[in-house]
Amino acid sequence: MVWTWTWPGLLAAFSTVLLAALVLSRSAVLSCLLTAGLYLVLRLFSLEPAPVQRAQLVVQPRGNPARIAHRGGGHDAPENTLAAIRQAAENGATGVEIDLGFTADGIPVLMHDDTVDRTTDGSGNLNSLTFADIRKFNPAAKHRLWRDYRGEKIPTLKEAVLESMHYDLTIYFDVKGDADKAVAALKPLYLEYPRLYNTSIVCSFMPDVVYKMKQADRNVLTALTHRPWSFSYFGDGKPRYTSCWKHYFMMMLDVILDWSMHNFLWHFCGVSAFLVQKNFVSQEYVRQWSSKGIQVVAWTVNTFAEKMYYENVLQASYITDSLVEDCDPHF
Ligand SMILES: *[C@@H]1O[C@H](CO)[C@@H](O)[C@H](O)[C@H]1NC(C)=O
Repeated sequence: MVWTWTWPGLLAAFSTVLLAALVLSRSAVLSCLLTAGLYLVLRLFSLEPAPVQRAQLVVQPRGNPARIAHRGGGHDAPENTLAAIRQAAENGATGVEIDLGFTADGIPVLMHDDTVDRTTDGSGNLNSLTFADIRKFNPAAKHRLWRDYRGEKIPTLKEAVLESMHYDLTIYFDVKGDADKAVAALKPLYLEYPRLYNTSIVCSFMPDVVYKMKQADRNVLTALTHRPWSFSYFGDGKPRYTSCWKHYFMMMLDVILDWSMHNFLWHFCGVSAFLVQKNFVSQEYVRQWSSKGIQVVAWTVNTFAEKMYYENVLQASYITDSLVEDCDPHF
């Protein structure tokens, strides 16, 4: 593989590891072994990213910042439905972000939560319901505009892909876990519809999902998704744990994860883009990633003023809950 890391970044990262190991272990030998081991693992197992030009086709189609409808645009239409995809296209989105889930009988469908309760008139865990069960549910049932969206069904992954391709939308496949199942579901789609290599990207919070996808098919574009402090805080800023020691332990894990994401994991997994919670994006942040050949995509950018800032100042693509009006974030 090609070693694309810049030397200053590489030296800084390994010096940090060495220093942290020295402080923690107080053993020079152990620290050197650990640092050398990490270097070897990275050197041997890092995956090569796709060419930047191809990533550009997806992340900044036609050279402009992209507007991506979060869950198909969950504010404007019932999230993760074919109607949402159609509505997003009509509202001028350039792409859709959709969530992959699996039924008890292993059918890949669009569903954000582990349960169907929040969005449908059904109830239960997605992975304990069969496809026949969930097809009876109405995915528009809990939406504020349910009256306008009658007769929707929870779509299969393939139905959603066909609908998105029909409207020339780029696709951000959001995969939450189940790396092996997700790869088994996505890989055949790329083989059947090769244009997806130029029009879609597989994204996950979980580095193993992103790594395994690229390992299975090195031509698939991938992205890591990140929200700093996600182990210790919910998306709305409330602490996850009431126990004090647990909270600080999780904060420590957050520091390690954040550092790893920015210093190693992007390189190790060979990603082309970094999907980050919008509050952490600045001009300097975008510039730093772009010097590594990585595009920043922010989520979720929901007000007109913020969108103008992303499009005109940062010139970065963003994921939004609504293409037509300001709205609160959907966590
Ligand atoms: C992807 O885009 C590149 C550059 O525009 C083109 O050469 C290639 O044929 C495209 N691949 C597919 C599968 O459409």
